[in-house]
Amino acid sequence: MTQYSNRMIFTHWLTLALLVAAWFLGDSLSELTDTGSATLAAYQLHLVAGGVVLLLTLLRLFFRSKDGVPKAVGNTPMDKVAKGVHHLLYTLLFVLPLSGIATVFSSDAGRALLSGDAKLLPGKDVYEHVFAHSVHETLVTVLLVLVAIHVLGALKHQFIMKDGLIKRMTPH
Ligand code: HEM
Ligand code: HEM
Repeated sequence: MTQYSNRMIFTHWLTLALLVAAWFLGDSLSELTDTGSATLAAYQLHLVAGGVVLLLTLLRLFFRSKDGVPKAVGNTPMDKVAKGVHHLLYTLLFVLPLSGIATVFSSDAGRALLSGDAKLLPGKDVYEHVFAHSVHETLVTVLLVLVAIHVLGALKHQFIMKDGLIKRMTPH
């Protein structure tokens, strides 16, 4: 086996697309709730994109256990770091959406969504006191840093080592 299975590859790239969408939506939400102009539709879209990331991660780990993974590219300290980053990424793909769900349950966001009243959506001043929201915000930053390291690693393989690592994650 020299490549990931097609369904592992599909879930990898779909997760990336959903994360980009959830990130942009989340970022604009935090500005809009502050000015009181957030809509429930934008909120719901963010929750759906983030929720699908969680479900997709469960599915991906199921595929991983069934299909296996290609042999490690090497055993250098950098390869071990890359593997550690993969584990941390999987962990974040779970805990980040969970912290989002906890934010909804531990703030008035849940009440706003249930009653359909966007005016109940909490603004920044309220969220400052919601622990799950602070965790959610921090985890977003941790995710961005880890993804940056992960992508830099992929670029190093592609353009410096020229070992064609990206082919392992390309549909076949
Ligand atoms: C896994 C993908 C997710 C990403 C990348 C993400 C990203 C973000 C970002 C960037 C913010 C803005 C934080 C700030 O600066 O205040 C945010 C806020 C928020 N997210 Fe998520 N999120 C994800 C999943 C979820 C899920 C699954 C839920 C709930 C079911 C959720 C609920 C919320 C709520 C309620 C806020 C507060 C909005 C506000 O600050 O006004 N998120 N998210
Ligand atoms: C432009 C963005 C990205 C590129 C170029 C990229 C590239 C790659 C490549 C080439 C691999 C295979 C590594 C190997 O065979 O050792 C891989 C694996 C992986 N990627 Fe990405 N990736 C990107 C974005 C992401 C994002 C956003 C996440 C999740 C937050 C992610 C999570 C993972 C994980 C967990 C693995 C390990 C798969 C496993 O062994 O189960 N990647 N990526």
